[in-house]
Amino acid sequence: MKLKRLYTFINSDLDIIEKALEETIQAEHPVLKEASMHLLQAGGKRIRPVFVLLSGKFGNYNIDEIKNVAVALELIHTASLVHDDVIDNAELRRGGLTVKAKWDNRIAMYTGDYIFARAVELMTNINKIEAHQVLSKTMVELVIGEIEQIKDKYDWDQNLRTYFRRIKRKTAILIAVSCGLGAIVSEAPIQVQRQLYRFGYNVGMAFQITDDILDFTGTEKELGKPAGSDLQQGNITLPALYALRNENLRKEIVTTFDPNNEEKMRYIISLVKTSGGIEYSKEISERYLKKAHGIIKELPNCKEKTALLNIAKYIGKRKF
Ligand code: IPE
Ligand code: IPE
Ligand code: MG
Ligand code: MG
Ligand code: MG
Repeated sequence: MKLKRLYTFINSDLDIIEKALEETIQAEHPVLKEASMHLLQAGGKRIRPVFVLLSGKFGNYNIDEIKNVAVALELIHTASLVHDDVIDNAELRRGGLTVKAKWDNRIAMYTGDYIFARAVELMTNINKIEAHQVLSKTMVELVIGEIEQIKDKYDWDQNLRTYFRRIKRKTAILIAVSCGLGAIVSEAPIQVQRQLYRFGYNVGMAFQITDDILDFTGTEKELGKPAGSDLQQGNITLPALYALRNENLRKEIVTTFDPNNEEKMRYIISLVKTSGGIEYSKEISERYLKKAHGIIKELPNCKEKTALLNIAKYIGKRKF
């Protein structure tokens, strides 16, 4: 099933978001303009704005107001990708060159900063201090998550708790906040705001676990970004952590590991793939999705609720 088919009833509002995204990052400076447009126009799932809009429908939905939040969240996500590709030394993103590959790391740093700044600027249209508190906290957590990942690189002894804390910070909180802020800004009942936030958190955890699985099982063509690069970068994710729990595998992985030797890396990836680590990670992802399902079921029946349920289902099965 195509993701877009799950929420056709917000299509016209998503068109508004798309236009606003482009307008917002228009810059006088040619390089900033080109570099930020480059990534934006390459597409992407736009899952965060979708969550903002759907959650907003549980309160007094006003597209002129809520679009600021939806666009800001997509921009924060986009900026974090520009920086992430510097950290992960990635050449490909959304089927095209990354900003760091097409320009360079220095340009990518400022392009990311610029996109962040535009998000903050947009948020000044929102007259609720809580929204700003929530969002700034989220950005702090995201940065901590990404920097923790640098610290945890090549640490074969890290435990599962470290991994879960890291993905919560770098990914799940932003998705939780996409749901939560939609509800806050539209003044949905407090209880609903909390439920949507918790739904987003669980979906967000499953989303990153799935991304980490796909890094092992997907192809560059499907993903639009390099596959197999997490391990090569020393980023040890759930499937690998599972494999490392087996003493024999662990010895083999740690002694064979050589990021500059493609053949050895392919061999290690195959070890992880046959270790049961993929199945284990899928099971954990399913557990989060079940939790999300349980939370959303408590909400009043409406087409937005159905759409959220279906998106959660889709996330467990996605191929890109
Ligand atoms: C990629 O996010 C980074 C993660 C948090 C896993 P998405 O998978 O939402 O990327 P786009 O926006 O669709 O390209
Ligand atoms: C998510 O992690 C990135 C951010 C939260 C910024 P990844 O490094 O796995 O994302 P991809 O795989 O490059 O999209
Ligand atoms: Mg990364
Ligand atoms: Mg990356
Ligand atoms: Mg990834």
